[in-house]
Amino acid sequence: MDDVHLKQTVACIADYYNGCKVGYVGHEGYRKSTDLAKFGKCIDELVTLGYIEPQHTTFLDLGCADGRVNVLMSYFVKSSVGIEIDPEILAEYGQRKKELILELQHENLLQPLDNITLFKVNSLETVTYDLIESSIGVRFERIDLFYTYITLHDLFAAKIAEEAKPKALYLVYGFSKILPVTKDWSSSSPMWPPKE
Ligand SMILES: C[S@@+](CC[C@H](N)C(=O)[O-])C[C@H]1O[C@@H](n2cnc3c(N)ncnc32)[C@H](O)[C@@H]1O
Repeated sequence: MDDVHLKQTVACIADYYNGCKVGYVGHEGYRKSTDLAKFGKCIDELVTLGYIEPQHTTFLDLGCADGRVNVLMSYFVKSSVGIEIDPEILAEYGQRKKELILELQHENLLQPLDNITLFKVNSLETVTYDLIESSIGVRFERIDLFYTYITLHDLFAAKIAEEAKPKALYLVYGFSKILPVTKDWSSSSPMWPPKE
């Protein structure tokens, strides 16, 4: 992919989804949406540091809502997997992606890759990972990059620490400059503010 086109595509996706963010002001809302402009800059840094490799990386959003982070990540990873417990929220994925595709076509930009799979299940249950493995052949132990927008970050941290492969990364999007502290985890330097 050429870099300029990819950057323009990321900006277009961020504009589209940031136009329909949920519960992003203060502490409102049972559900919050990642700011994809900020997240895009973190991706740049992860790619530069070699943590993301397009042909190899498997990404999992542990509470993916309408799959917006998965759509953005599809350009940067081999497999972009999401889990969402609430069927109504997950149902927004299809319509939003359709609208986005039209927008990208209109701007002559790159389409999301065909590597996104979202599951309507509970991230905390073992059967979920059996289902993912039997559906797309991805085992929990093969996932390279885990993500949550603060939701259940401590419970997910415990599961990842116990079951993920040693070099797996866990990315937690927090509120403003507040960073979650997780027992027994060392944190790499926060990616905020991202480099311009
Ligand atoms: C803060 S939102 C983040 C949405 C999306 N990752 C983003 O960043 O835009 C958290 C989502 O996790 C979902 N969720 C909460 N508990 C879950 C669980 N145990 N398994 C799967 N999804 C869960 C919620 O329904 C909600 O849509």
